[in-house]
Amino acid sequence: MSIAPLPAGPDGEAGGPRHVAIIMDGNGRWAKARGLPRSAGHRRGADAVKRVVKGAGELGVPCLTLFAFSTENWQRPADEVRDLMGLLRHYLRSEIEELRKNGARLRVVGSREGLAADIVEDIARAEQSTRGNTRIDVNIALNYGSRDEILRATRRLAEQVKHGEIAPEAIDERVFERELQTAGLPDPDLLIRTSGEQRISNFMLWQCAYAELVFVDTLWPDFGKEHLERAIGEFRRRERRYGGVG
Ligand code: IPE
Ligand code: IPE
Ligand code: MG
Repeated sequence: MSIAPLPAGPDGEAGGPRHVAIIMDGNGRWAKARGLPRSAGHRRGADAVKRVVKGAGELGVPCLTLFAFSTENWQRPADEVRDLMGLLRHYLRSEIEELRKNGARLRVVGSREGLAADIVEDIARAEQSTRGNTRIDVNIALNYGSRDEILRATRRLAEQVKHGEIAPEAIDERVFERELQTAGLPDPDLLIRTSGEQRISNFMLWQCAYAELVFVDTLWPDFGKEHLERAIGEFRRRERRYGGVG
């Protein structure tokens, strides 16, 4: 199956999606099924990230967000957290050239608090050196939790109100969104979760208000361009009504 390239313009609605977000899940189960340590699943998951970033660019998806590490994932065993951070370091250092080739502009969303200083530097460097790329926006959600994000936004707005910089009644959706870590990104219109789990796990609760949800059984390390293409096909068959009557 092959689908036409997606429109890259602001009117993505006809074809779309303009923004695909993916909850990459199932690395551990992929490894377990093969009698391998979870770290092997994460390594293969990192390969899937490279495939999907390339595939999304080829399919004309203008914006892709990948959930890589949640604020809750710190609860995992220390060696697993270390493995995940190691893979991330490796990705940020080794993929810049590939991202450039794919025309990908990288942005990391999530809190920098709690991340190792060298990773924070790697993030800044990777964002800086891919800034001029215009084919696809690739966002990695790292140390990201939607409730955390919403609370931080709320606190900042409360401070602004306290200092008389903004009136409470001036806080509307647009103002609120400016304070979110995803400021400037369109809302995801397609949210994919792999591995058969059907939950949001604290991902973009505000932004996914009207996202179409597609759950696939494929484990993340097995996910590729063809799976993405299929999910986009499913998305395009949906009727989006936004509370109206269609
Ligand atoms: C996704 O795979 C990667 C992260 C959440 C960091 P998991 O590690 O959650 O894999 P399962 O769900 O245990 O199979
Ligand atoms: C969600 O997956 C977080 C990421 C994909 C980074 P989890 O595997 O952590 O979610 P739960 O624990 O199954 O809800
Ligand atoms: Mg999981």
